[in-house]
Order: sequence, then structure tokens, then C-alpha cells
Amino acid sequence: MNQMPSSTRSRSPSFCLVTGGAGFIGSHTVDQLVAQGSDVVVLDDFSTGRRENLAQWQADPRVTIVEANISDGLSAPLASLTAEKGTFDCIVHLAAQTSVEWSVQNALDDIQVNYVGTAQVLEYARIAGVGKVVFASSSAVYDENVPVPTREDEACQPLSPYGIDKFGAELFLKYYADVHGLRSTILRFFNVFGPRQDPGSPYSGVISIFAERAAAGQPLVIYGDGNQTRDFVFVSDVARAIVTACDPDRATGAILNIGTTLETSINELAHLIVNLSGSSAPITYEAPRAGELRRSAAVIDRAREALGFEPTVSLRDGLAITLGWAQDGVQSEAV
Ligand SMILES: NC(=O)c1ccc[n+]([C@@H]2O[C@H](COP(=O)([O-])OP(=O)(O)OC[C@H]3O[C@@H](n4cnc5c(N)ncnc54)[C@H](O)[C@@H]3O)[C@@H](O)[C@H]2O)c1
Repeated sequence: MNQMPSSTRSRSPSFCLVTGGAGFIGSHTVDQLVAQGSDVVVLDDFSTGRRENLAQWQADPRVTIVEANISDGLSAPLASLTAEKGTFDCIVHLAAQTSVEWSVQNALDDIQVNYVGTAQVLEYARIAGVGKVVFASSSAVYDENVPVPTREDEACQPLSPYGIDKFGAELFLKYYADVHGLRSTILRFFNVFGPRQDPGSPYSGVISIFAERAAAGQPLVIYGDGNQTRDFVFVSDVARAIVTACDPDRATGAILNIGTTLETSINELAHLIVNLSGSSAPITYEAPRAGELRRSAAVIDRAREALGFEPTVSLRDGLAITLGWAQDGVQSEAV
């Protein structure tokens, strides 16, 4: 279960930049990159990322942390490092404002980080001659009316500034590939969950919020009837897809869904979390949130084909790990 399938073994980049590497998905990606022998630079402004997420690499020369904002450009903050170590083989671009809801009220700020910031990353990659960019896109790019589970070639008509900026960024990656020959892979993540996902914000992923509330015995609040569905994919599986996509010989030019294909309703999720945690927390209901998708799940045939991607951690197992982390602060992440 926890072994990487042999078909996903790949050449990992020896020198890799991870924007947003102090965040939830970013820090798991750093862990796997270093485990596979890469030298990693994390560039993060610590707006939501945390130094604790990288604590295990604090004194390790294979991980360097640079505090900077991608929207201000990457050349200056990275100049001395790259003068010493050379050009990056790969950039994993994860830094972003990550809330759909927040973007609706703060469109200009979302554009600044998620669209302009991505353009800064790509322009840096072009000028510096970086080997490849792996970009974190999102299921939020799809039209609300697409068939579920959803294939990558379905219509993209995002409903939020967040989705529009992710889709615009995807177009920018295609432009840099077509015109400047910059290699890239676009990964459209569905609902990622696991340890280190910050439950402290109302905009966090539903699992991190439910896990924290169950641990504290506080109500798990469901917006709407709870029959809306999501495709929950565990963070170590996502990080493995990212690391595999760093290989310049794999999935170049591809757009790939990263999920599990499984739809889980928010009602099922809440009951599973209450049962697994042994919590007495009640489940309560409030008015539905505007603009929320009714159903979401991925078709992952392309990622299977291009990356050998296979989700290996079930929702139940991933929840048990996440709940252990939420309850004890123990990072029981042996996956
Ligand atoms: N978590 C999910 O379910 C999910 C789903 C789809 C897509 N994504 C995408 O995956 C990526 C990682 O998301 P996450 O869930 O780990 O969120 P996160 O908030 O934990 O990580 C984002 C990281 O980017 C950093 N950051 C934000 N703005 C920055 C800036 N201007 N300059 C430099 N660093 C900046 C933050 O400090 C943080 O470390 C994002 O691009 C997000 O849009 C996540």
C-alpha cells in the first residue's frame, strides 16, 4: 500500500525550487523530493505556510528556505543561491492564495498572487533556462455542468476569480511552452487532505476543519443538505504525483487530474470523521454557500497513463492519519 508502484519510479530533479514549499502540499512535496535525492530550495512568503512544516530539514544542507513574495519576482531573491549552485532543473509552483471563497471578495489580490505571481515564476523560468515547471492547478477550473467524474478535456468555465486565475495561469504555461519551449506539466488537484493542512482559517479544507472540531467536541457544520460530493485525495499521493511530474521525460505538455475518482458526500464525510475519532461532536446544518459545486470527482486515466499515478491511501486510512495528527499534533505520516 505504501510502496511506490514501480511504474511511477522516475528520475527526480537534482536541484528543485518549490514555491509555496512551507505550505501543506508543498512541505510534503519537499519531504519526498529530498527523500529521492534532490537538493531543494523553498521560496515562500509564509502568508499561510509554516516553518514547523519544514522543521525536520532545519539543519539539513539539502533544503534552503528563501522568504520572498512570488509577485515581486524571483530573480533577486534567488540570485546568490543560483550563482553558487546553478540553474534549477525543475520548479514546482505551488505558491498561491488557495481559497475560492476568499477570492470572490478579494479578486484583485487573488489575481496578484495567482495570476501575476505565476507569470513571474514562468518569466523567471524562461530567463534562467529552468528545465521544467510543474504547476498546481485545480478542479475549480471546470464548468459547473460538466459530467462527473470529469475528464480533463471537459469545458473550463471557472466560477470564481480563483478558478479564472488558475485557468489563466494554465494558458500562460501553454504559451511559454509553445513560444519559448519551456517544458511544463499542469496538475489539477481535486480536494487534497492530510496532516499539516491548516484548520485555523474558515477557508481551509473541510476535512481539516471537521478533524479539528471533532477533536475539540465542537459541532461539525455542514452548509446545505450535505449531499454535495467531493473527491478527497490524500496528500502523500498528491506529492508523489508532483515529484513524478518533475521528470522532464514524463507528462511534458500534459494537463492531468489528480484525484481518486471516488465521490464522497459531505454527510458521509462528517459521519466517518465522528465515528473514527470517537467524538461526541454534533453534526449541524446551515444555509448553503453561494456558488458551491454540487458534485466533483476526477477521471484520472491520463495521470495513470502519463505518471503511473495511482491513489494508494483510502479516505478511511487517510482520515485516521489526519485525525491522529489533529488530536495529538503527532505527524503520524508513515505513508
Ligand atoms: N489543498 C487543496 O485541496 C488544493 C486543491 C487544488 C489546488 N490546490 C493548489 O495547490 C497549491 C498548494 O495549496 P495548499 O493546499 O498546500 O495551500 P497552502 O496555503 O498550505 O500553501 C500555499 C503556500 O504558498 C505560500 N504563498 C502564498 N502566497 C505566496 C506568495 N505571494 N509568495 C510566496 N509564497 C506564497 C503560502 O505561505 C503557503 O506556504 C496551491 O497552488 C493551491 O491553489 C490545492
